[in-house]
Amino acid sequence: MRKMRTPLAPRRAAAVIAAVLLAGTVAACGNSDTGSDAADDGRIVLGFSQVGAESGWRTANTNSIKEAATEAGVELRFDDAQQKQENQIKAIRNYIQQKVDVIGFSPVVESGWDTVLKEAKDAGIPVILTDRAVDSADTSLYKTFLGSDFVKEGRLSGEWLVENSKAATGDVNIVELQGTTGSAPANDRKKGFAEAIAADPKLKVVASQSGDFTRAGGKQVMEQFLKAHPKIDVLFAHNDDMGLGALEAITAAGKEPGKDITIITIDAVKDGMQALADGKFNFIAECSPLLGPQLMDLAKKVHAGEEVPARIETEETTFTQEQATEALPDRKY
Ligand code: AHR
Repeated sequence: MRKMRTPLAPRRAAAVIAAVLLAGTVAACGNSDTGSDAADDGRIVLGFSQVGAESGWRTANTNSIKEAATEAGVELRFDDAQQKQENQIKAIRNYIQQKVDVIGFSPVVESGWDTVLKEAKDAGIPVILTDRAVDSADTSLYKTFLGSDFVKEGRLSGEWLVENSKAATGDVNIVELQGTTGSAPANDRKKGFAEAIAADPKLKVVASQSGDFTRAGGKQVMEQFLKAHPKIDVLFAHNDDMGLGALEAITAAGKEPGKDITIITIDAVKDGMQALADGKFNFIAECSPLLGPQLMDLAKKVHAGEEVPARIETEETTFTQEQATEALPDRKY
């Protein structure tokens, strides 16, 4: 026969109920660890929404931000949006709810931020844009922009090509691997490059498509380009990773990268620099991911109510094959 359960003695039952309630409270506090009001320990709390982990550049950028936060004594709440705007909007709303001191983010695309930025402004939380810009007409929605001049990177790439195509007699057919559609670097690099190559009518972009800044995307789109265009002289890839993916497609098609097809990319991460030093790439315009220390400095300043410049651009250079060989041993990322 099954034993009957004895009801709890009233005192013990009360103790159990109290323990359950207490456990609930503790669990709620635990969950709100990332959701608590900013810094009871006096540290600035920075909520940062990162684009994703699409490239070597992005990994270096994330590392720079995390390391700089530790160094600067800033409490960093970090979110990886996996290249999706809706994830970034969600993360920013969470940071507003958590009442962080400052919000930083690198917007995956340029448009569609006004509503959420207005919510941050209404909540009195200053916003810092890093790496990528937004196209909001109301610039009071953010305090400052810290990052690169992407138009210049595209222009420098195009100018190098103009200079190095002088000896060519016929048309020079160019294919372009664009970054993420609608992103500031894709829009601006395309623009700068087009402006520069307009100086030489021999230079013709015969195909241009997005590879989403990834190696896989670069490989896949380059395969299509190679099938559709029997004569490709130049590849302009908006980042190293897409260029590296394209190398595989070019080699598989029986062509020699860097010789049969001239390859120009942007970023100058280690793998890209190695390809340049190895003669597989021909030119790289640098885009620096090391924004962490400046971001922490700006976060402290805007939190303290100090005036900061509306736009802060990173210093960058360009690399030929010889310069890459020289720079590689000291390359940090
Ligand atoms: O926004 C910067 C760009 O984004 C880098 O050039 C690219 O590699 C990254 O994914």
